[in-house]
Amino acid sequence: MASMISKKMAVRGKNAVEKLCEVIPGGVNSPARSFPDVEQTPMVVDFAHEDMIFDVDGKPFLDFCCSWGALILGHVHMGVVEAVTKRLSRGSSFGISTEIEEKIARKLVSLVDSVEKVRFVNSGTEATMSAARLARGATGRDLIVKFTGNYHGHADFFLVQAGSGVMSLNATSSSAGVPDDIVKHTACLPYNDVEALRSFFKERGKEVAAVIVEPVAGNMGVIPGDQEFIQALREETLKNGALLIFDEVITGFRVGLKGAQGLYGITPDLTCFGKVIGGGFPVAAFGGRADVMDHLAPLGQVYQAGTLSGNPVAMEAGYETLKHIEKPGFYDELDRKTKSLVVPVRRVIKELNLAACIQRRGSMFTLFFGKKRVRNMEDAKQLDTALFSKYFSFMYERGIYVPPSQFEACFISSVHTQEHLDFTRDAMIEFLRSL
Ligand SMILES: Cc1ncc(COP(=O)(O)O)c(C=O)c1O
Repeated sequence: MASMISKKMAVRGKNAVEKLCEVIPGGVNSPARSFPDVEQTPMVVDFAHEDMIFDVDGKPFLDFCCSWGALILGHVHMGVVEAVTKRLSRGSSFGISTEIEEKIARKLVSLVDSVEKVRFVNSGTEATMSAARLARGATGRDLIVKFTGNYHGHADFFLVQAGSGVMSLNATSSSAGVPDDIVKHTACLPYNDVEALRSFFKERGKEVAAVIVEPVAGNMGVIPGDQEFIQALREETLKNGALLIFDEVITGFRVGLKGAQGLYGITPDLTCFGKVIGGGFPVAAFGGRADVMDHLAPLGQVYQAGTLSGNPVAMEAGYETLKHIEKPGFYDELDRKTKSLVVPVRRVIKELNLAACIQRRGSMFTLFFGKKRVRNMEDAKQLDTALFSKYFSFMYERGIYVPPSQFEACFISSVHTQEHLDFTRDAMIEFLRSL
């Protein structure tokens, strides 16, 4: 009887995917959700609770994706639910300022030293796109420098693939539909390569409006920037009158209360936030030096706007989240939990002398297959994605959901239980021992 029910139920997920595909391209509103890199039917979620999600077949999964890092307090946090519900009953959107916007802006300014003023938007893509426009408007220059394998959302001028190294800077787009005329204003350099950076700036430094970087890269899996590399970014931008933009859409309030800039002790001119600051709602922001931010309309000439920007329901969720994560010991406990999983796995990789590694910053980590260390896109290209796919299935079949690509980060929330972390650690080790 039980197996009949589960067989019948398992059909629902497949049907749901098929129905979604009929009316939504690929059945998804963001490509990674279609599981393009693994051999499993894409998940369709019914509901979630704390560190677990349940698919439409009723199958539970321990969630290590956490809405791609957004849910640092886990699913259905009661403080967030209450704040949002209260706001909803008083109106959900006005297109007019509300006091909660001042409250959350002030909190952000008080927590992150480099941020003197901030503007809220609806997605990380909007935050990076707006920060780049602002940098161009404030400096009067066009050129944006980014790094291979860093992802800054899907604005045209960020969808750029590098050639190899400094010599082939004629960037080509990594998406159809992006004109070459647009990507010619984006230079793509290798990540963690100080020499390439310095030689580029020697030649073209005075053309650069801004350098944008993920200080801890999360979009080729977790690859922390080297201290000297991040330091060199600050030096070269200052020397050449360019702005430094930290894309902390993932790392902001994730790797620590002051984000990656707190870890490195480097002050960017502008910072982009997203994910955690929305508490599971569509919120992102960009902020930084007041003299730069004041170039934005209505004070300045750089136009930027949004019907739902600073939406009060989403602001309440974000504010509630920030209130919780600033409590003393919050990040220490998150670190402790993450280490309880990562450290034993790393030990086993060493003991078995596997071509693998587990890289971590704060509560984000990636288990890489095929390399003992991953420092940049060149390394990432050599990873064993077929083995990752097997690993994904191994975990998935045990009810553990890790992001469905070798080039993504796993995230731990404050409500992941030690029992669930131990179960996941043991599954990871079992897979590694089976190799
Ligand atoms: C570092 C970084 N910047 C920007 C973005 C774009 O954010 P969104 O997906 O909210 O547009 C992402 C998305 O994952 C990201 O990881």
